[in-house]
Formats: sequence, structure tokens, C-alpha cells
Amino acid sequence: MQRILSGIQPSGVPTLGNYLGAIRNWVALQRDHECLFCVVDLHAITVWQDPATLRSATRELAASFIACGIDPKAQVLFHQSAVPAHVRLGWIFNCVARLGWLNRMTQFKDKAGKDREQVSAGLYVYPNLMAADIHAYHATRVPVGDDQRQHLELANDIGQKFNHDFGVEFFPVIEPLILGPAARVMSLRDGTRKMSKSDPSDQSRINLTDDADTIALKIRRARTDPDALPHEPQGLEGRAEARNLVGIMAALLDQDVAAVLREQGGKGFGAFKEELAALLVEKLGPIAAETRRLLADPGTLDAILRDGAARAAAIADPIVAEAERLVGFLKV
Ligand code: AMP
Ligand code: TRP
Repeated sequence: MQRILSGIQPSGVPTLGNYLGAIRNWVALQRDHECLFCVVDLHAITVWQDPATLRSATRELAASFIACGIDPKAQVLFHQSAVPAHVRLGWIFNCVARLGWLNRMTQFKDKAGKDREQVSAGLYVYPNLMAADIHAYHATRVPVGDDQRQHLELANDIGQKFNHDFGVEFFPVIEPLILGPAARVMSLRDGTRKMSKSDPSDQSRINLTDDADTIALKIRRARTDPDALPHEPQGLEGRAEARNLVGIMAALLDQDVAAVLREQGGKGFGAFKEELAALLVEKLGPIAAETRRLLADPGTLDAILRDGAARAAAIADPIVAEAERLVGFLKV
């Protein structure tokens, strides 16, 4: 059986983008894979996080995973900082990856922006830690959104360079799983930017914890163009916002965009948005309610995370110990 690993940063409330681009696919994959799902708090602190907020966001994200359908008994659900193997292998990978490789990472360029000199060194080596998250478990399949493709290529470059440098076949090749019609959900305010939990504008995204009224309001205010919806996908060309909203509906209905447009083509955005909001409330309402229920009992949630961390460490520790031995660290 192939081992799957994926992670999301607790850098805010998870969004519809996280759900459609990531978590929903994980729920389907857990049926026939051994899975590890990680709340990547070490990654989150590459940009400033208020300590109390980070702690609560870590619990909230874990609760959302379970509310979305991740089974913490059958799979391993844990938070990254609780398993030191990530940091141990991450350091080794800092010494394997080349500066030139990191310089090509578009996410770093996006996140650092004009402020290059002032961002943390952690933000720069972030992809090395992500490679360690995966390779520490010899995971071979990684379900992520489209934006993470380049990081997974780097993770393979690192694994292969390690193997080559030490003359071993130790780290396997990782296969990215970029799934679903909504591999990239865009901002409600700007159809050229991805929907993100760290966007300063809450109006730009649907949070998995938003109530029905908030969802309806955000969708009503979502940016669109004045034209009616087209009958065919070609009619969405050059209409990023329209394409995004239709894509969201398609993903929620498990249909393709063409099928949605056969139904919705010719409608104005007013009517379409009302249907979309109702559909979002129907799909996300139960998730929000279950998340709230889980968060009301933090003791149980923490016990789930503790158990997950112990099971994750049991897999990762021997693999990372072997990597350390290959590197030449003296084991006494
Ligand atoms: P992040 O929120 O950046 O920690 O991303 C966690 C996971 O959600 C990754 O697999 C991302 O690719 C996915 N993801 C985040 N935002 C989006 C989005 N707007 N559309 C699709 N997938 C996303
Ligand atoms: N970098 C990923 C993101 O921002 C999160 C992540 C960290 C991850 N480690 C991972 C995803 C390992 C998959 C596997 O979305």
C-alpha cells in the first residue's frame, strides 16, 4: 500500500480553497491508502504568528479535518512540532538542497514580495522542511493543490540528490496528486489571486467556519462582470471571476464546468449567486457545526493529537535515524 502524507498550515481558519483543493480529496483517499495528515505549525511560523492564536488555530484546523471526514483512528492525524523527526531531517535537507534550487521557488517570491531582506530565513528554506515532512515517512503520494507542484518537484530533487550523494536508494520518488476540478480556488475579490486564509480581506474567502448569513453576503458581494453566464466553458475565457464561481459550484456538485453551464448558462449573476450560496451553506453548514462541537471539548481533541503524534513518530523515527546514519552522524 502506498503511503500518503499531506499538510496544511494553521495560519488562519481553513478556507473553501483548502477544502476543495485538499481536505476533500484526502477524505476520499483514506479509503484505500495509509494516510498521515499533518497540521504544519513549524511551517506557519515562517511568518509571524501570535502564540495564543497559533495554539488555537492548530486545534481548529485539526477539528476541521475531523469535521470534514478525516478518520483520526484509521489514519494518523497530528501536528508537526510534536514530532521532532521533521526538524532533524529538515536540517539535513537544508544541507542537501542548493541555493539555486530555492531561488527558483515562485511561492517564496510571491510571499517575500519587495520585502526580501526582511522575511525570515525560515520562509526561504520552507520547501526543505516540506520535503522532510514527506520523506521522513517514505510517503510516495502527496495530495495538494496546484500551487504546491513546484515544492514537490524540489522534494524529489532533494530525495534524489541525497540518494546520489550517499550512494543509496533510500528516499523514494514522490508522486503529486493534484486532484479535482477546483485544484485552484481563487479569491472572491480578485480572480487572479488564489483564495488564501492569510489574505488580509476576509471578504476574499469563504471560511469553513462561516455561518449561513456570512456565506450568503460574501457570495453576493463577490466580484463578477456584467454579462450573463455563458452556455459553454469557452465563454468563460478572460472572465476569471466568473470562471472561479462556476468552478466552485462544479466542485461542490462533483460535476464538470460544462455540465454546470448547461444548467446555469444564460442566467445573470444575481440568480446564480443565490444558488451558489445555498449550495455552499448546504455543504459547509454541517462541517462548521461539527467543528464547533469538537472544539467544545479540547481535552478529547488534544488526546487525539497526542495519539497521532506518537503513531507518526513510530514511523518517522527509524527512517530519520537511518538517514542520520547514512550522513555519518555518530550513534553512541
Ligand atoms: P495552505 O493554506 O497554503 O497551507 O495550503 C494547504 C493546502 O490547501 C495545500 O494543498 C494547498 O494547495 C491547498 N490550497 C490552499 N489554498 C487553495 C486554493 N485557493 N485552491 C485550491 N487549493 C488550495
Ligand atoms: N506547503 C504546503 C502549503 O502551503 C503545506 C505543507 C507543508 C505540505 N508540508 C507539507 C503539503 C507536506 C503536503 C506535504 O500548502
